[in-house]
Amino acid sequence: MAFVELVGLTKQFGSLAVVNQVNLNIEKGSLVCLLGPSGCGKTTTLRLIAGFIEPSGGEIRVGGKRISAPGASAPPEARNMSMIFQSYALWPHMTVYENVAYGLRLRKLSKDEIRVRVDEILSITKLSALAERYPAELSGGQQQRVSLARALVIKPETLLLDEPLSNLDANLREEMRFEIRRLHDAFRYTTVYVTHDQSEAMTTADLIVVMNQGGIEQAGSPEDIYQRPESEFVARFIGGTNIFRGKKISADTVACEGGLNLRCGSGSFAAQGDTAVSVRHHDILLSEHKPTASDTNAIAGTVARQIYLGSHRDYLVTIPGGETVRTVAPVSVAIPVGQQVWLNFPPENCRALAR
Ligand SMILES: Nc1ncnc2c1ncn2[C@@H]1O[C@H](COP(=O)(O)OP(=O)(O)OP(=O)(O)O)[C@@H](O)[C@H]1O
Ligand SMILES: [Mg+2]
Repeated sequence: MAFVELVGLTKQFGSLAVVNQVNLNIEKGSLVCLLGPSGCGKTTTLRLIAGFIEPSGGEIRVGGKRISAPGASAPPEARNMSMIFQSYALWPHMTVYENVAYGLRLRKLSKDEIRVRVDEILSITKLSALAERYPAELSGGQQQRVSLARALVIKPETLLLDEPLSNLDANLREEMRFEIRRLHDAFRYTTVYVTHDQSEAMTTADLIVVMNQGGIEQAGSPEDIYQRPESEFVARFIGGTNIFRGKKISADTVACEGGLNLRCGSGSFAAQGDTAVSVRHHDILLSEHKPTASDTNAIAGTVARQIYLGSHRDYLVTIPGGETVRTVAPVSVAIPVGQQVWLNFPPENCRALAR
């Protein structure tokens, strides 16, 4: 059942709608990622949900009740939501314990109850040993956990996270992704998580909402978004892909530039005329030898670049017409720049795009 509902949600700054007619149902207890490039309206959407700003149009409902509409918005403190900002915003003069206890003290809980709840959350977030430290004595990841503990301790109904891992180094970021998912599984708060990092979204989310220029481009499970992108924007934004533009010549075949005909195993076949096909880098087979059935879904090209990346090699291959195709191959496939190769595009890996 939808718990948080955005209905035609719109926010204009001046004449520009930075959030434009957004409709989204967020299930109770689910973790939803808003994913998109810088400036697409993610933070603004989160601030609208938190109640820091008021919509110009549409409304927000929580548990069936309207909490935001133009000229009629409940204040943030009446929403039972916790928002974590990118900058942690910990109190520097308070210890970890005091930082986490702060929200409970504001809510006038008894000292004993505060101790029980803070101890519990410090243990869950693996901070018990650091309770008496000050923020300046903590690593970035530890500060991040304090900020999470502080948001969780008040038992919000809804947790709003704005790029919560963006200040951490790559290793810590990866570790914290799993941590956030683990905490979510433990508490099942309805969570909206803003990020522009696709692997962060893939690791944590039940539902990924890809935003573009204030609107929703596509919403679906991580697998949906990755395997079944509907638009060129989503295909490019999530995971590396090659886009081949061309004209449809039969029910499922697209004639692309340079003589490459791609039979598509999935996607949108409704389009007529000009269309596009997406093929992921790792879904293309690279070989020095001509494939046996090569009338469609294969083409010869020339290696333009080859990079050794430890786990695999990254190839850029120029095909007739001058287009380049990016693909990967096992480390053992080491073909030098300038050599002719064959690219094979299995139809099941070719996806026709609707837009
Ligand atoms: N108070 C404001 N007044 C005018 N324009 C604003 C205001 N707040 C945000 N914007 C504009 O709205 C657009 C969306 O901003 P928002 O902060 O929601 O983007 P974002 O998706 O969170 O981007 P990022 O990934 O860079 O954080 C941007 O073009 C931004 O400049
Ligand atoms: Mg932002």
